Formats: sequence, structure tokens, C-alpha cells
Amino acid sequence: MKAPVKIISTIAEMKAACREVTRVGKTLGFVPTMGALHEGHLSLVRAAKSRCDVVAASIFVNPLQFGPTEDLAKYPRTLEHDTKLLDELGVDLLFAPSADEMYPKGAKTYVEVTGLSDKLDGAARPGHFRGVATVVAKLLEIVRPDCAFFGQKDAAQVAVLRKMVSDLDLDVEMVVCPIVRETDGLAMSSRNAYLNTEQRQQALVLYRSLMRVQSVADQGEGDAARLIEIGKQVIAEEPSARLDYFAVVDPDTLDPVADISRGALVAVAAYLGSTRLIDNILRIPPGR
Ligand code: PAJ
Repeated sequence: MKAPVKIISTIAEMKAACREVTRVGKTLGFVPTMGALHEGHLSLVRAAKSRCDVVAASIFVNPLQFGPTEDLAKYPRTLEHDTKLLDELGVDLLFAPSADEMYPKGAKTYVEVTGLSDKLDGAARPGHFRGVATVVAKLLEIVRPDCAFFGQKDAAQVAVLRKMVSDLDLDVEMVVCPIVRETDGLAMSSRNAYLNTEQRQQALVLYRSLMRVQSVADQGEGDAARLIEIGKQVIAEEPSARLDYFAVVDPDTLDPVADISRGALVAVAAYLGSTRLIDNILRIPPGR
């Protein structure tokens, strides 16, 4: 029988446990999270289990990636339940450090992926991607996994982290897994828990806007400006939703593209009440 998941809260102990995995010649997969786990997170764990001998996950609600007016204090924390889920899926190591352990007094180093971190979600959330890149750089150094698993749900985060890994020559394979959705199409997110019954229904407008754009694109419309217009129109049909952005961009640079013939990321962000939701579809160019 497999040993229960080992919960580790110090960097020194996590490093030692991870180095031991590598020392005995096993491959190590890593799934970083902020907890409040749902099927989206669990899909990453399953992917890691299928590809690596040993799987480590982390649960750390990273204060550095929350803005001063954001929901750090009320971010859902369900460590006990999360631990049970990870254990059931056969995760070997769970790193759950405190904020003081990750950011001791006097820490002064940040990782910033300039030119990317202020795009899409970074525009509405200044400092957010600096916080994400800094914590993921630290986690990748602590764990030194062979593969690290991220969700396509956070497409801008994927672009920022891929660039960071490439620019810093980090020795890790980034594995990006598809968006897991509720049966009605809403992308799973820890933030969905903030929605009341009406907002939960209204939130479907994000997926609806992407599906409309998808179908128009499938019928041959390639002009990004036209697709954005169509997407925005759908969002406007739901008066309770406040659009942040509807964008058609290059998935690596996050720069706008004029047409989608060479593939594109179609991404949307909107507020329902004070809850900010995001969703996207990736258009793969023909022949890839
Ligand atoms: P968190 O929001 O907890 O998400 C952890 C991982 O789960 C991310 O890679 C995210 O893209 C993925 N994920 C979330 N919802 C998903 C869904 N519906 N389908 C597929 N994957 C999904 O993202 C973060 O935490 C943090 O920024 C982190 C990378 C841990 C750094 O603090």
C-alpha cells in the first residue's frame, strides 16, 4: 500500500525530500496550487501521476500575487479537505509553507517578466504576475521537478511562466493541461465559490461569448477586430457582467494579433459583482 501524503511546511525539509527522489533515479512531477482544490487542480495531479514516478503538490496562498484591494483574506482555505483529495489521488509530497517561511523578513528579490506581466490580467492587477513569477521561481528551485503542471485556464500565467523558465534557463518541462469545466461550460475556479445563485448563472456569459466567437471563426471569420466585437456583444447581453477585456492575442507574447490564421488565444475577463472571472480558448493554426 502507498504511504499517505507527506505534509511538509519547511523549505529545508521539502528540498531534502525532493532531492532524495531524484537521487534514487525517480522522476518528479510538481503541481503548484493555492488550495481550495477542484477538478481543475485534480486534472493536473492526474496528469502528473501519469507522467512521473513521484508527485509533489504545493498549497500556498501567495500574498505577493494579491493586490491591496484583492481577496487575500477571504481566499478560500480548505487545507484538510485538500489534503484528503491529494492523498486519495496518490500525491506523495505536499508542501504547505507559511508566508513567513516563503518570505522571511528582509527578502528583497522579485522575478518580473517585463513586457508580459502587464498584459491581459496583469493590466487590471498590477504586481500580480510579479508575485506569481517570484513564487513559482522559488517553488521550482525548492522542488526542482522534472515536469511542472499548469492549467490553460490561466493562459496569461502560462505565457509569463514559460518565458520565465526559458529566460532563466530553468531545467523543467512545463506541461499545460486543458481547462476543466462544469457541465454547463463554466470554467472551474476557486473563485466560483464567491458567486451567488444568480451570478453563477450570469457567469455563463463568458463561456457563451467564447463559443460564439469559436463558431464564427469556424465559419471562416479570421479578423480579430470583428471577433472581439462579436465577443463583446455577447458579454453586453448580460447586463450584470462588467467586461474587463475581450482579447485576441498571440499566446506566447500576449500581443494583439490582427487575424487568427496563424492561431491565437481568445481570452475574456469579466466581473460578476466583485468577483473577477477569466476564460479562454486557444485556436490552433491549421496543420499543427
Ligand atoms: P490556483 O489558482 O490554485 O491554480 C493552480 C493551477 O490549477 C494553475 O496552474 C491553474 O491554471 C490550474 N487550474 C485552475 N483552474 C483550472 C481549470 N478549470 N482547469 C484546468 N486547470 C485549472 O494559479 C495559481 O493557483 C497560482 O497563481 C500559482 C501558480 C499556484 C502560484 O501561486
